[in-house]
Amino acid sequence: MHWVRILSKHESEESGDFVRMVKIDGQKICLVRNDGRFYALQNTCPHAGGILSGGWCKNGHIVCPIHRYEYDLETGKGAPGQYDYADVYPLELRDDGLYIGMKESWWKKVWGG
Ligand code: FES
Repeated sequence: MHWVRILSKHESEESGDFVRMVKIDGQKICLVRNDGRFYALQNTCPHAGGILSGGWCKNGHIVCPIHRYEYDLETGKGAPGQYDYADVYPLELRDDGLYIGMKESWWKKVWGG
C-alpha cells in the first residue's frame, strides 16, 4: 500500500461538509466530509454504475443519485436488503494534509512507475 496526499493541510482544515470526486493514480475516488469526518469510497456505485460522488449523505451513509441505494461511509456496507458493498479506503490526517492509502497495482510492481 502506498499513501497519497489528497488534500493540503489548508484544504483539510476548511469547514463544511462535501461529497466530491478525486482522481488518484488514474482511479476515481468518492471523497466525503460528513459531520467533520473524512471518508473515501469507490466512485462507481456497486449496484449499477451510478456516480457516488454525485450523491449525498444521510445518516452516516452515501446515497447514490441513480436508484438511491445507500452505503455506510465507514464500512461501505450496503443498507439492509441490498446485499452489496462499496470499497472503502483508509485515510490518515497528517501534519501536511489528508492522505489516502492505495493498493499497489500489480503492473506498477512489475514495471514501476
Ligand atoms: S446505480 Fe447506484 S443505486 Fe443504482
